[in-house]
Amino acid sequence: MNESSQPQKKSRKRLTVPDLIGKKSRGEKITMLTAYDFTMASLLDASGVDVLLVGDSMAMVVQGHENTLPVTLDEMIYHSEMVGRGSENALVVVDIPFPINHQGIHQCVTAAGRILKETRCQAVKLEGGAEQAEVISALVTAGIPVMAHVGLRPQAVHTMGGYKIQRDRDQIMVDATAAQEAGAFAIVLECIPAEIAKELTDHLDIPTIGIGAGKHCDGQVLVINDMLGLTSGYVPSFVKSYANLKETIQAATAEWCTEVREQEFPSDDNSF
Ligand code: KIV
Repeated sequence: MNESSQPQKKSRKRLTVPDLIGKKSRGEKITMLTAYDFTMASLLDASGVDVLLVGDSMAMVVQGHENTLPVTLDEMIYHSEMVGRGSENALVVVDIPFPINHQGIHQCVTAAGRILKETRCQAVKLEGGAEQAEVISALVTAGIPVMAHVGLRPQAVHTMGGYKIQRDRDQIMVDATAAQEAGAFAIVLECIPAEIAKELTDHLDIPTIGIGAGKHCDGQVLVINDMLGLTSGYVPSFVKSYANLKETIQAATAEWCTEVREQEFPSDDNSF
């Protein structure tokens, strides 16, 4: 298909993987937020966020599980379709859910291929560094852009003994370097000391996107519910909430319930 015969879609404006790498070379900070459905994806996309991540944090935030392990590939695809439909401008990245990236290259390429074929998303993220290098390389060879994820890896919560700050500088350096060499286009650094994140960010050619990794990363990512104050449980100290949607939603709901019970809603204005 030549360029003139390609459908003229909105996605021509969409941020691409090379654009993201270009941001690092120009010293422009990258913004990434999680999204799990159409409405939120549309709002975040229209607000100018660079990257939308359909994170496996969905297992906790949307599904109410205690960790990220239970979410399935089919569920990730179902939600990624919604996010893909809701976004025009952001690069959309989808987490490969546990334990697919440990089930061999064939399984992982098949799963990532389904994600790109069945959703409108453009890249995948997978947890792991050096031990995942072959998988990353196979995905990239298949034309599937990969964002790596090192430091705290929530899918390894049981091995790591909880959600703890990761301080093993040498291991993190080995993992991140291996991911870059394998062809990853960017890398999430989760819960590592700011000094180590700075060293990595200076050392790597690909952008680093931090969560609980200090201000020197090339970009920042937060779980959208945390950023908007829409949480019910523990909120980590590296989170800053820019709104209090939990309070707003509860106040609006209480007001509506009162108005219905006192027969103030619907008024004549809300009736035919
Ligand atoms: O699943 C997720 O939301 C993530 C981010 C915390 C980076 O992996």
